Amino acid sequence: MQGGFWTKALDPWSIDYFEDKFAKPDPWKYFTSIYERTKYQRQLDIIKDRNQNPQRILEIGSAEGAQTLLLAAQFPEANITAIEISSNALGRAKNNLLQFADRIELINADIAEYEPCIEDSFYDVCIWSESIYYLGARLPLTTTYDLLAKVMDKLKDSALLVMANTVGLPEGIPEHVVTKRPIIDCYYSLMSSLALPILKSNYLEDKLGRTYEYQIWAFELKL
Ligand SMILES: C[S@@+](CC[C@H](N)C(=O)[O-])C[C@H]1O[C@@H](n2cnc3c(N)ncnc32)[C@H](O)[C@@H]1O
Repeated sequence: MQGGFWTKALDPWSIDYFEDKFAKPDPWKYFTSIYERTKYQRQLDIIKDRNQNPQRILEIGSAEGAQTLLLAAQFPEANITAIEISSNALGRAKNNLLQFADRIELINADIAEYEPCIEDSFYDVCIWSESIYYLGARLPLTTTYDLLAKVMDKLKDSALLVMANTVGLPEGIPEHVVTKRPIIDCYYSLMSSLALPILKSNYLEDKLGRTYEYQIWAFELKL
């Protein structure tokens, strides 16, 4: 009994958290909220500015495919690999992305386990938004850093990595503990040692009557 308690307390961001979260469709309103749509568009614009025609895009933590859909529409020649830990979310993504099924590969996996299956130096663009802090909360810092480095190895020379991350979610939201500013700053610092930082923007915007802060980062891979 006590063992069960400790397992839960030490590993609260495991697959169970996400399966539960995605028991119902679109728990974070990714398909309907203007806040999320604006955040996606900003990330797309960064990619477009630097690479108008990426051929291979890696998306980590793709949820039900809201951003995948926009990527596929924006970049008609891109083949997209979308990795998602929750089978509930991935099942819905399959339906949501039917029109682009010929060029989107959906993989139901934990990036920390699946990473060795990905070919090195393969992708032009990686988008890894709003999920590094879950991994960072589960894994030792050294392992998180190694994972970031290994994922960077999957990108081509001069490839682009784009990340959006919420900062300082309010108490009462479970992610409050994993999005504290010094923790998010830490991921930025780790990433900046692995790739060239080319953009860091901060936004304070409303979602459903509450103001949230997020940052968008872009890095260029230099081998
Ligand atoms: C907060 S949502 C963000 C979704 C999307 N990236 C966005 O920015 O709108 C985090 C997503 O990452 C997924 N995720 C969390 N940890 C993961 C992991 N280790 N491997 C793959 N997906 C993961 C979750 O299931 C969830 O769908």
